[in-house]
Amino acid sequence: MEPIALAAALASFTDRWSPRIVTTVNDYDVRVAKVEGEHLWHTHDHTDEFFLVLSGELHIALREPAGERTVVLPKGSVFTVPRGTEHKPYAPVPAEILLLEPTGTSTVGDQHEEIPAHVDATTGHALN
Ligand code: NI
Repeated sequence: MEPIALAAALASFTDRWSPRIVTTVNDYDVRVAKVEGEHLWHTHDHTDEFFLVLSGELHIALREPAGERTVVLPKGSVFTVPRGTEHKPYAPVPAEILLLEPTGTSTVGDQHEEIPAHVDATTGHALN
């Protein structure tokens, strides 16, 4: 294993909503992704999902028992979506994010609406 510069990792691909796995921690992936526009409503039934915004701004719409709300994450912010909470990320401007979630976790969760063409349904891709 060698150190990985996140800037270099992010410069190695251009796809949106298509995470790259930069390293692993025990049985978790550390993934980075470039995002822009809307993702889709989905739910991870068995795991929380951690977000860190590296650049730009990320909004995450949440459907909670009390109703629907949207959290806004400027650059440098972290947020964890609890397991079982339906959520839909949205980036009003191009953004770069870091995700922490168990290896094998699908980007579209265990339950999801129809997957739009611009979203990659994946458990993460290796860095080239
Ligand atoms: Ni998710």
